[in-house]
Amino acid sequence: MKINQSIQIQDNKLKHFLNIKSLPKTHILEIISRAEYIHNNNKISKYPNKVVASLFFEPSTRTKTTFELASKKISADFINIDISNSSTSKGESILDMIKTIEAMSCQMFVVRHSVPGTAHYIAESVSNNISVINAGDGSNEHPTQAMLDMFTIKKHKGHFDDLKVSIVGDILHSRVAKSLIYSLNTLGTKEINIVGPESLIPENYSKMSVNYYSDMNKGIKDADVIIMLRLQKERMHDALISMDSYYDDYGLNKNRLEYAKSDVIVMHPGPINRGIEIESSVADGPNSVILNQVSYGISVRMAIMSILFDNN
Ligand code: NCD
Repeated sequence: MKINQSIQIQDNKLKHFLNIKSLPKTHILEIISRAEYIHNNNKISKYPNKVVASLFFEPSTRTKTTFELASKKISADFINIDISNSSTSKGESILDMIKTIEAMSCQMFVVRHSVPGTAHYIAESVSNNISVINAGDGSNEHPTQAMLDMFTIKKHKGHFDDLKVSIVGDILHSRVAKSLIYSLNTLGTKEINIVGPESLIPENYSKMSVNYYSDMNKGIKDADVIIMLRLQKERMHDALISMDSYYDDYGLNKNRLEYAKSDVIVMHPGPINRGIEIESSVADGPNSVILNQVSYGISVRMAIMSILFDNN
């Protein structure tokens, strides 16, 4: 995957929203602060002349729906391209499809695709007045999820620096984990732990400024924030783990939660698999902010879309 990092920011302004890896701290803070303003005041500029097209080549419930709601709340039109019934199923290339939708006067594309770099590729080919948002590219990045995760941490913990954050599960295939780690590092989080079986940890984790624990109790000890991840079975080509022991070793249950701080928040990007990575009593318990994450996602996506519209 060859990515042109400079395409995302032009003249010091966010032009597309493609990855966190190359996103400077000022832009992360700009998004969080605009989202806070929207969330607290329920007030936002309106963009009635703008059209947003969503192209989801992979399934989604919360990301796609919150993008649609966010778009409606800022008065932009939202068109949902039905990929399974689209002309790409007749062999049309993605770029030809994009050019066709561009001709319908569309100013923003929200793209999810299993191939890393797809949103970048589209951003490089669209006309100058169009912004592209990456809504997840394979196991590479999921930048809007990371922004709503940062918003959640700020809302419940007040800051990012003096925290211990433990990310548990399938780090290898998770785009959420990658974008999270980049954001937390940029924001100066003191301790980032990744926890999971060795077969689900990226080989290059030592370059990611994180600590690795194969023992979950040690990895979540005294954590302020625990982020649980789903096993991304759709991206596993071989059996990388034994399902029989996964819940015993890495499932978050009430007893295990005792290892973390008493005011720990438990997060999960969804969809959750109860009884596989998390027990219902924790997912629905007092430390869980999983459903709050979903609703914060609307304000955060409104913030990102409005910043991009303002800059274009
Ligand atoms: C995540 C994704 O699609 O990467 N979900 C989401 O966007 N809410 C995580 C997942 O599918 O496990």
